[in-house]
Amino acid sequence: MDLRTNGATLALAGILTMGLAACGGSADAETADAAPPLVEKADYAEAAAATAYGSSETLVVYKSATCGCCGKWVDHMETAGFDVEVHEMSQEELSAVKKDKGITSDLLSCHTAEIAGYVVEGHVPADDLKRLLKQSPDDVKGIAVPGMPVGSPGMEMEGKPADEYDVVTFDKAGETKVFASH
Ligand code: CU
Ligand code: CU
Repeated sequence: MDLRTNGATLALAGILTMGLAACGGSADAETADAAPPLVEKADYAEAAAATAYGSSETLVVYKSATCGCCGKWVDHMETAGFDVEVHEMSQEELSAVKKDKGITSDLLSCHTAEIAGYVVEGHVPADDLKRLLKQSPDDVKGIAVPGMPVGSPGMEMEGKPADEYDVVTFDKAGETKVFASH
């Protein structure tokens, strides 16, 4: 399990409440007594290669119960063939999940997910995630679409032109690399 934390993530709670109004993510009254279960990394190897994109693992999604765009992203991933398991939680719990998974403020978006040992932050297109899973790089900790660009999967807005945005990968040190541009 990976429960590392670093200084930068400590600022997440504030940024979350500030930045994600479009998600409608107000804090729930419920309090967290335990972090949601993390997926064990050891299980991934045997499941790999079972599907076209190299993993039959479930996409485990952590989201605020009130986030509409997160739900639309889940729909997008299911349509693309992912087996999705959703954990809804308060904003505080979600912040704790993000901190646990090493999401720094420059990567931050609304929902956080995990599949095959990789962290997935924000509105990452299904095809980009499939490509990452196929490549299965050892030096990548996760993939992210920071912020919530208009036109990314789940963030389509009628009458609003799509933003240009990058999908980035990040490593354990928080170094990012552009993985795809849309
Ligand atoms: Cu969103
Ligand atoms: Cu979301």
